[in-house]
Amino acid sequence: MSGVSVTKETDDARPASGDLVVLSNVNKHFGALHVLQDIDLTIARGEVVVVIGPSGSGKSTLCRAINRLEPIDSGSISLDGKPLPAEGKELARLRADVGMVFQSFNLFAHKTVLENVTLGQIKVRKKDKALADEFARTLLDRVGVANQADKYPAQLSGGQQQRVAIARALAMEPKVMLFDEPTSALDPEMINEVLEVMQQLARDGMTMVVVTHEMGFARSAANRVVFMADGQIVEEATPEQFFTNPRSDRAKDFLSKILHH
Ligand SMILES: Nc1ncnc2c1ncn2[C@@H]1O[C@H](COP(=O)(O)OP(=O)(O)OP(=O)(O)O)[C@@H](O)[C@H]1O
Ligand SMILES: [Mg+2]
Repeated sequence: MSGVSVTKETDDARPASGDLVVLSNVNKHFGALHVLQDIDLTIARGEVVVVIGPSGSGKSTLCRAINRLEPIDSGSISLDGKPLPAEGKELARLRADVGMVFQSFNLFAHKTVLENVTLGQIKVRKKDKALADEFARTLLDRVGVANQADKYPAQLSGGQQQRVAIARALAMEPKVMLFDEPTSALDPEMINEVLEVMQQLARDGMTMVVVTHEMGFARSAANRVVFMADGQIVEEATPEQFFTNPRSDRAKDFLSKILHH
């Protein structure tokens, strides 16, 4: 695991080779709405960054910009030292390198669980089917759904589907995993089984950007908390610092709302 990044000011001290995702002066508008404002964010290899903030602050847009589901208006985003590609095969490869897990499970409904996890390996990574099957079964085992391989997504619980979605993203051997509120559509009893898979992934050294309101996860898994409000990064700190001693009024206000309901 990389060193804990404390504040923005320390980013420059990290070795360049340790930086995996670098957003530099990123701006994005939706019409008149300035949804990402001068975003500077560097994510080190192996780092787990939790992004929190009020609804509409731009958290999902930030995630979507990192795998170019949303093009940006200005600034730059690089992955592993290279600017994000705009189109074609390079873009497909980027989407594989940047695994994404959304709030809604987004599995292919007409494919089995196993096929969901082998498809990208065969189509994008050009693996042969036997190898893809073998790796898929290993990953399904790792997320605890090996015995569901031949079922269809609708036959699984929400928590199981979300774990399959994680396995499907991992099957591409991504450089970074983005999670956008992966547990917020789940029934309470299924939240932990998904968070535990994510905890394990973090312990295994995966670089992760996680949008979540699960403060327990943030406290135990995150190296850094990034607090967004109104399209800006308002505050960055270790979870310990952020939860015990938030500096900005916006963060204090937000925390008092989510911790007391
Ligand atoms: N495709 C779009 N077209 C126009 N406006 C959009 C689009 N996507 C998002 N927005 C607006 O941009 C702002 C930021 O949206 P975003 O989804 O990034 O926020 P968020 O922080 O993820 O919020 P939430 O916590 O509710 O998921 C919101 O005001 C939203 O309505
Ligand atoms: Mg969102």
